[in-house]
Amino acid sequence: MNKYEIRVIVLSSTILGVFFFALLFNVFSRKIDVPTCIPYDASFQKAEVRKVDDDYYEVYVTARMWNYDPGEIVVPPGSTVDFYLTSADVVHGFNIERKGVNLMAVPGAVNKTTVKFDEYGEYRIVCHEYCGVGHQNMMGKVLVTNSAL
Ligand code: CUA
Repeated sequence: MNKYEIRVIVLSSTILGVFFFALLFNVFSRKIDVPTCIPYDASFQKAEVRKVDDDYYEVYVTARMWNYDPGEIVVPPGSTVDFYLTSADVVHGFNIERKGVNLMAVPGAVNKTTVKFDEYGEYRIVCHEYCGVGHQNMMGKVLVTNSAL
């Protein structure tokens, strides 16, 4: 084998190792949830907030030009929320401020992530994928308050 081929293999393996280390470090040490893409499920017909338990919610979000449905999600502090996200038209973004959530809403696919809301307040959701002339106005919010549902 040529010495340059060996160098390329060693360099690629090292970079791959660094990426895997960064991924595992973030998941296990910094407790950052890695979003998962799950197969589209035909039962995801209705955008809604489902209360599973007192501190556990499932939220089914549909993004479309140029809003989110539901636009306002209200949960009590201390809640863990599973977000299931899809799009009705084009690719949208789904970014929850101060929560490190950065998902894409893809038509025909469902993306999922889990977020814990410990502190009171309003967390804006913004679309960060250009999706047309109304893109800059596409927003939603998560309201963390005791007057939830
Ligand atoms: Cu939706 Cu940009």
